[in-house]
Amino acid sequence: MARRVTVLGTGYLGTTHAACMAELGFDVLGVDVDAARIGALAAGRLPFYEPGLEPLLERGLRSGRLRFSTSFREAADFGDVHFCCVGTPQRAESGGADLSQLFGCIDALAPLLDRPALIVGKSTTPAGTAAGLADRLARLVPEGSGVELAWNPEFLREGHAVADTLRPERIVVGVRSASAEAILREVYAEPLAAGVPFVVTDFATAELVKVAANAFLATKISFINAMAEVCEAAGADISRLAEALAYDHRIGGAGMRPGLGFGGGCLPKDIRAFMTRATELGADEAISFLRQVDAINIRRRSRMVELASELAGGSLQGRNVGVLGLAFKPDSDDIRDSPALDVAMALRGLGAHVTAYDPAAMDKARLAHPELEYAGSVLGAAAEAHVLLLLTEWPEFRQADPEVIGKAVAHRNIADGRHALDPATWRAAGWTYRALGRPASS
Ligand code: UGA
Repeated sequence: MARRVTVLGTGYLGTTHAACMAELGFDVLGVDVDAARIGALAAGRLPFYEPGLEPLLERGLRSGRLRFSTSFREAADFGDVHFCCVGTPQRAESGGADLSQLFGCIDALAPLLDRPALIVGKSTTPAGTAAGLADRLARLVPEGSGVELAWNPEFLREGHAVADTLRPERIVVGVRSASAEAILREVYAEPLAAGVPFVVTDFATAELVKVAANAFLATKISFINAMAEVCEAAGADISRLAEALAYDHRIGGAGMRPGLGFGGGCLPKDIRAFMTRATELGADEAISFLRQVDAINIRRRSRMVELASELAGGSLQGRNVGVLGLAFKPDSDDIRDSPALDVAMALRGLGAHVTAYDPAAMDKARLAHPELEYAGSVLGAAAEAHVLLLLTEWPEFRQADPEVIGKAVAHRNIADGRHALDPATWRAAGWTYRALGRPASS
């Protein structure tokens, strides 16, 4: 009989994982302490924007394979494999990870488990957390219940979550027994049959693979953005530099697009939590470069504000600034640590009248920052603008017609924070086009 799966925590990761497990044919119960969220999911409504996920959710619900609940009792009775997908956000008072949701999840579930089960951690955690959780679990489960822990980090990207879950580039499992490995091979039988590599490790290595991957991705982005700073100083062009570097297959171009830098709920907090953990382990020197990675990334945002100010004639006070994009990246409505939103707020702080538009993130942005003004379209954000900023590279913005938008603005000034537009086309339409790391004129 196929194993029954629970997914604890229904954020981006958990909801995607639950819907994909149902798609793979498992009976799945998604559990969360947030009753409103569970209500929405049970009614087939996604509480966030993720292309391609809603049809999977609907299919799962319709087939009866996917259900949602707020009850840990139900989860314990139902599941053979419990995926723990709760968030591990940055602590308010430090760069370290806040593990309270993870502990809360284990503490709620473990005492209720009276038969063999595998708990599989998917949350991003500092190395050593899984080992500590295994001890905690052993203390909390009823004696002789045969409950075990495994660690199975997640590498999905928002905007590509379904494909990344159904066909990941690799599956990594940290296990302490052959039976735990066998169960996970069974759960992932379909992607494994399709040739997805399966890497078996100890707990700490599995946890580290995840943070090391995100640290590397963040480093690539900050590397190219550091080169953009040097390009500006040297009068060189970062776009052509990046293009030329990408032809070297050892370097490649993927994940190394210059611009406003990285944000979101993962890379920024993960590199900070990694530095904190490395310091605790006495290995801080080894990854002290991540401090620079973080600093370069934050500098992108202030440089963008300076560029907007330059384009506005030296001061933003009383100037109309149109902002295109609020999500931390396209195909997402996530505004956590969004560079775009950060820049919009900084512009407002300097006295600009900011009007913003995003195809997906408006509701979330409005809720978090009611003090900003919002428009319902690109043209609405551009209306009477002295400066227009492109801060998230949605296709809708890439395809915008500089002539049409030119008629809406007060002055044809554009700062392209994501190197998403063709400078020649915009300049030909009479715009002053600027981008970080590119010469001020062609
Ligand atoms: C990231 C990782 O890419 C995933 O592998 C990982 O599973 C996930 O974090 C996680 O830890 O859960 P995600 O945050 O969805 O995924 O977004 P990315 O596509 O990596 O983009 C992150 C940020 O970097 C965005 O703000 C994006 O605009 C920026 N970025 C990305 C660049 O500035 N340049 C690039 O070349 C690529």
